[in-house]
Amino acid sequence: MLNNQENNRFWLEDHHFLKIDKGKLIFWNYKSHEQFEITPRHASRLIDFSKGSFLKNTSLDREIFNSAVIVKKKHESHWGWDWLAHIYHYGTCHPSPPEFRGFEKTNSENAKSYIEYCASIAHNEPEIDVIRGGKIFNLPDPNIDSFKSISLWDTLINRRTCRDFNGSSAELSDLSDILFATFGDQCSPDPTTPLNAKVHGYRRTSPSTGGLQCTEPYLWAININGLPSGIYHYLSRRHKLENVLQGNAKYPIGTYLCNQNWANDLAFAIIMTCRMDKLWWKYPHSRAYRPMLMDVGHLSQTLNMCITAKGLHPWITGYFHDKDISELLSCPHEKEEPMLIVGAGSGSGSSFSRESRNEFNKIQIS
Ligand SMILES: Cc1cc2nc3c(=O)[nH]c(=O)nc-3n(C[C@H](O)[C@H](O)[C@H](O)COP(=O)(O)O)c2cc1C
Repeated sequence: MLNNQENNRFWLEDHHFLKIDKGKLIFWNYKSHEQFEITPRHASRLIDFSKGSFLKNTSLDREIFNSAVIVKKKHESHWGWDWLAHIYHYGTCHPSPPEFRGFEKTNSENAKSYIEYCASIAHNEPEIDVIRGGKIFNLPDPNIDSFKSISLWDTLINRRTCRDFNGSSAELSDLSDILFATFGDQCSPDPTTPLNAKVHGYRRTSPSTGGLQCTEPYLWAININGLPSGIYHYLSRRHKLENVLQGNAKYPIGTYLCNQNWANDLAFAIIMTCRMDKLWWKYPHSRAYRPMLMDVGHLSQTLNMCITAKGLHPWITGYFHDKDISELLSCPHEKEEPMLIVGAGSGSGSSFSRESRNEFNKIQIS
């Protein structure tokens, strides 16, 4: 049985991190999204609580108790990653602000507040298009008929991640069709659009979070008939390429992709970045980080399908040297970051690289 003193034992709740901001020490609960400014007295007392200190009847302890940063039961974590992933996970959860609990709005109230919110942010909407200002390359007009000769089911079933490419070239016309079908503006007028609705952005063949089209495509042209090798930005609404980097990068592509060297035999790779500034504008809450990643995921699947429908093999990677790829693309730091890369080329179609097949073949089966 617990004695009175044991009942007063408190532990520091462990969903916190400390941040120094403008000379203030901030104690930030990333689960409840609450922030507290703390003094050296608070800090020293919080360290006591992290060791399971007993609550005393002092004004300092009452203040700490009322802020709910200490708890009765020590938290046992079953988390398998490090604490940075924990912060990301809970930091991007919706904290259920109290005003939503028990105060459900009607559909018309919801519509009204959404439209008022959109009107209130309309004055500083970010640029819809990224324009790098590099030399423009015209792409052949897209030939969408080429996608109609293969069924959806055949494309789905033929899509396989390949890691054995042979270095042959791809046709510019195929690349052009793939870019258009995945990232091109397919904006056909929506007859249900109300008169006063302001349209921000455009439409692609994949859904997009907030309709913002926050994913930007860049092309690493390795071996394309009719296009000098280099790095380009695809202008989604103009169906053109603009040059970002001429010729070869310092290292072959596989080096930038953490030595996944089968990528050196791709014909091309599409690097997808996220325009965070678009998300910050409409959804200024960290929750928006999740749909931003899923936006890329949707486009990646469409891209995989289009590559497959053209008879090429796709390969996908989320594993690369972020900073180096960012520098190659001259991405404006933090506003736009590379997230996922999809490569394409010809080859055996095997999901095993030649080297890994050789290694497997050496293993003696007893
Ligand atoms: C988001 C994402 C990231 C991936 N990253 C890599 C990667 O870094 N390297 C790699 O070789 N494959 C990567 N893959 C491919 C998976 O390994 C592959 O899809 C999986 O083994 C299933 O095989 P399948 O695509 O042929 O069905 C990734 C796939 C996804 C969806």
